[in-house]
Formats: sequence, structure tokens, C-alpha cells
Amino acid sequence: MYCTRKVTDDLIWVGADDRRLPFFEGVYGVPDGVSYNSYLLLDEKTVLFDTVDKAVYGVFLENLAHELHGRSLDYLVVHHMEPDHAATLELVLQRYPGATVICNAKIKTMIAQFFPADLTDRFQIVKEGDSFSSGRHSFTFVMAPMVHWPEVMMTYDTTAKMLFTADAFGSFGALNGRLFADEVDFFSECIDEARRYYTNIVGKYGAQVQAVLKKAAKLELDYVCPLHGFVWRSHFGDFLEKYLLWSSYVPEEKSVLIAYASVYGHTENAANILAARLCDKGVKVRMYDTSVTPASYIVSEAFRCSHLVFAATTYNAGVFVTMENLLHDIAAHNLQNRKVALIENGSWAATSGKVMTDILSGLKGIEFYEQKLSLKSALNEGQMAEIEALAQAIADELQPKPIVTAAAAPAAVKAGDVDKKAFNKLSYGVEVLTTNVDGKDYGCIINTACQVGSGDPKVVTISVIKKNHTCDMVLKAGRFNVSILTEDAPYSLFQRFGFQSGRDTDKFADVSYTERTANGIRYIPEYTNAVLSCEVVETRELETQMLFIANVVEAKVLSAAPSCTYSYYHAHIKPKKNPAPEQKECWVCKVCGYVYEGAELPDDFVCPLCKHGKDDFEHVVPNAKPKQKGYVCSICGHFEPCEGELPADYVCPLCKHGRDDFTPAEQ
Ligand code: FEO
Repeated sequence: MYCTRKVTDDLIWVGADDRRLPFFEGVYGVPDGVSYNSYLLLDEKTVLFDTVDKAVYGVFLENLAHELHGRSLDYLVVHHMEPDHAATLELVLQRYPGATVICNAKIKTMIAQFFPADLTDRFQIVKEGDSFSSGRHSFTFVMAPMVHWPEVMMTYDTTAKMLFTADAFGSFGALNGRLFADEVDFFSECIDEARRYYTNIVGKYGAQVQAVLKKAAKLELDYVCPLHGFVWRSHFGDFLEKYLLWSSYVPEEKSVLIAYASVYGHTENAANILAARLCDKGVKVRMYDTSVTPASYIVSEAFRCSHLVFAATTYNAGVFVTMENLLHDIAAHNLQNRKVALIENGSWAATSGKVMTDILSGLKGIEFYEQKLSLKSALNEGQMAEIEALAQAIADELQPKPIVTAAAAPAAVKAGDVDKKAFNKLSYGVEVLTTNVDGKDYGCIINTACQVGSGDPKVVTISVIKKNHTCDMVLKAGRFNVSILTEDAPYSLFQRFGFQSGRDTDKFADVSYTERTANGIRYIPEYTNAVLSCEVVETRELETQMLFIANVVEAKVLSAAPSCTYSYYHAHIKPKKNPAPEQKECWVCKVCGYVYEGAELPDDFVCPLCKHGKDDFEHVVPNAKPKQKGYVCSICGHFEPCEGELPADYVCPLCKHGRDDFTPAEQ
């Protein structure tokens, strides 16, 4: 009996679940099954988007016939020729002899390779940017080579704002009656299987995925329809963020994966002790026995975690077979940019460390810890210090450096008054600082970004007011973007990011842009001329600010517009202040204009709008006598009112000293 679901009023899911398949592609265990998605559009013309695996052909053909309600099938769009989607293509074409196949030239070639029937007259060949209409709906075609085979393409329905994405954005796991990602708690229930699907199926092709994501970023998306797993009709951006991380080989989390291969438990014991020492230091750890957990799960975890530890015994003058398979699998999937620690074991001639190093050292951005723990049969008491040192080295990189509090800092030497106006002479820009924690975006205005190292990597510092919510979020995330603002930035942009708190406001609500850098963090593409993506390497707590020292991992120029300096902002963008209402004594925030009424502003007062402290408030006293310009005698203190220059022959009426002993002053 047919089993279908509506995606929209005129698009119907006609695919099927397979829960009896032991291994997807013959290698990846799928204990929760898998779905093969196919979609039927009932427009003026009928259009089927892909077919299904032969394992579920019966119900699929029944679904298709039922939903066509006696109509003929006019078009079959083929996005991908792997047989989990195309095995039943020939059957469909036999049943619906009037159907035309819409595909690209590579797909046509593959159809001829897979199916002997002569289909020569049944093709409409399309290429990038070509369009097609089925009546009410119009489509354009997007080529997506190597996501996951070279012939793959996607189709964008410009009417429904719907993208058919082939394997991209798919997942392991049967649908079990649900069709939409919002019908499950996707990011807790399903994300692990989505990650395992991505990393094992297309993880190798990060660059090609990035290329397609760039094309997709230009499309307005109300629906995303992959060939496996859930259809997305809301919150797709959260899933897209994961793809941006995975495809750029950026870890999702600062945490440690420990995978070990142990024959009699001694290597496992060392791995357990390392895990315990790491947990002592607050580091998140996941452990896997390579003889028990299939490689596809550990490959997926290696994409998720920032730091990897491999511990393995020597075996046949090499490395134990399950570890060897895992590492070759990781290498085959092109994992990059990870810090790796190794533990080897060998009762007489340990070789596993060298073999593990050799397999991984060809991967881009893989860095090994100098500490390589080498066991002879079992960990001995003397090596506990080595384990501790390795754990400390890893923990040092995963957590902010020990914070030097202001209280612990040496007392400042009193050398004289600090005139705050002197700092106005420093030239610095204005930026939007952004970060992302647990899928939420945060941002605030700063004027503290500064390049402090031009070697490799390039190093910047920023400082953020500690009371600012974005400061906490950068501490949590350990990474951030800096979008450098230009002189045409409107005041509303400063209000959005500077005058409200991310604690109770989504600062990105209603913005028209969605751009993110490879680290998955949003940046501001408008009124900016460059964006820097940074990884925090050190923090230092100051009296009111948190100083972040960070390596720049990505940087791109967005426009040629001149940067907005802090002084330009004050002179040309910030509206001129209104006089204090009713001339009451008050304090006015110099950053956002907030007025605090009263004679005394508490020292720990924080502006409720922009979170700046007392130092940024100006004390306004009504009816205060206007100050008079003049010169004060440094010998006797006499004040001489004067708007211009003191005459050259001027002599102090009190102490009779000359003009050289006078300095400008106001009273
Ligand atoms: Fe789901 Fe590449 O096939």
C-alpha cells in the first residue's frame, strides 16, 4: 500500500525507508536504517525528482502511481546516478514512456553505462544556470560536482524557493513517518547520524562542498529537499552552519577524541589514565575502542573534535589492524587542521607510533605533539609524569590561559595624571565583533581590534567590556569574527550592535544577510570592507575589559570603502547630543546618550543600554557657570582670563614672572 507525505500543496514525498539494510554502500552500518527520498511535483506538467534504491522499488512505484492519480509522468529530473537513487530509473521510464529525462551530460553518460536500454530520444540536457518551467513552477539548475560523484547537480525551484540538493544535507536514519527536520529534535537526536553521513560520504570533498555552499548562499531557501533524511522548512541555517564547519575541516568543539587499539588492555589502561587526567583539567573527552566501534563513527568524531589522541599497540611490526584501518579511513576522508597526540606500545620493538605518524603526516594542517608516549608492554610508574605532561599540554590549548586578574597584577606606579583626551589622539577603527555559541549568534561594537603580529600566523588583539554578553560568548566559543566598518555605516547599525544586549535581544533579527565565514560565524557583509576570522590563543582579564589575543585563520576583503575611524564615527555618524532634559543635574553616556539623573553616579554603574561604565559618562551640571579660557601662572597660581595668546611682554601682576611661566587653563 502506498505511503506518501506532502511537502507542500503540490509536492509529494514518494520515497521509502529501508531498515533492513545492514551496511550502506556495503561499509557503513545503518542501525537506524536510511531513507531514499523521491519527490513528485503535480504542476501543469508532472515532474519526478529522482528515483530510489531497488530495495524499496515496490512501495515507491505504488506511491508514484497513487499520487499521479492516472496522470502521465512528464519529466524525471535526475540529480545523481549512484544506484541508491537511480537503480529504479529504468523501471520508471518503462512505466511512463512519455517521460523526458532532465539531466546534465555526465548523468546522461552514466545512464548509458548503468542501463542497456536505448534512451537516446528521451533526454533534455541542462547545464549550470539553465532554466525550465513545469507551469506554475520555474527551475534553474546548479552543478555540484563531487558532492558526492562528479555528475551531481541540484535543482532550484524559484517559485517555491526550494532546493533539491541530492546527497547534500542528507542523513543516515529512516524517517519513521516524520518528514521534516522540525518534527524531531534534530540537533540532539539526529545530528550525530547527519555528521556521520556527511563525513563518511562527502567528507573528502570539502572544497567542492564549499563551492556549492557559496552558490546556495545566493538563493532564498524556504525548503531544502535532500535525497536522504529530513526535509528542511525552518532553521536550515543551523544545519548549514554545521556544513560550513565540516566542509572547511574546522572542529565543532574544543574537545579530545581518544581512540585506542589494545590487545590485552595495557594500551587501553594508558588511554584511560590520560582521559582521567584530561577530565581533571576540565577537558571534554570521548573514547573509542577501535576493535569495538566501527571506523565510520570514529571518523565522524574526528571531524567534531579539535584534538585527537591515537593509542595503539605494535602488531606484525606495524600498528594494530583496527587502528591502521581507522587512520587510513581518516586519511582517505581528508581530515585537516587537527592537533594529534600518539601513544605507542611495543614489548620489544615499538613501531606503531611511526606507522601512525606516517599515515597521518600527509594530511594538511595536522600537527603532532612533541610528547609521544612510548610504552614497553605496560605503563610504568615513572611514565605517570609523562601522561600528566601530555594532558597538561593538551589542556593548555583547549582552555583559556590562566587568567591574570587585575588584583594580582602589580600596583600601578603613580607617575602623574592620566588625561583621557590624550587617548583620543590614537587612531583606531570601529568594528562589529561576532561569535556563535550553541547555534546562537552574538555580536557587539568594538573599537579595539589591533594587529600585533604580522608573521605566520597573523595575530590580533581585541578587548571587550567584561559586562558585555558577547565577551562571555567569545570566551565560551574561543573564536570570533571582526567585521571592519566603513565610513558609510549608518547609525542604525551602531544602535543594533552597540546599544542593546544579546542577553535579551537577537541582534541579527530581521537582518537581510546570512553570510558566515568558514568557521560558521556570521559577519556583516554591508558597510564593511574586510572580515577577519580569529581563534583565541590567550586571554587576560583587565579591570573592566577582557583582552583576547587571537590568531587570524581567515581574512577577506569585502570592499574598497574607507574604514570608519572612532573619530569619524563621533564627528559624522553619531547624532549630536540633545541637551539634558529640564536642565537637571545628570550624567550622560558619551557612547549612546543614555541620561542618568542625579548628582552622583555610582562607581560601578553600567549603562543599561550600551553597557559602558562610569568612565564613559559626562557629568552635566545645570546652570553651571560657563568655564572661562585663560592662562595660569605656574609660580603663584594667578589666573589671567584670555581667549587668545598672552601678549609677549605680559608679566604676572602678583609674582612678576613672565609669559613663559603661564600655561593654558580654564576656570
Ligand atoms: Fe545517496 Fe551518493 O548517493
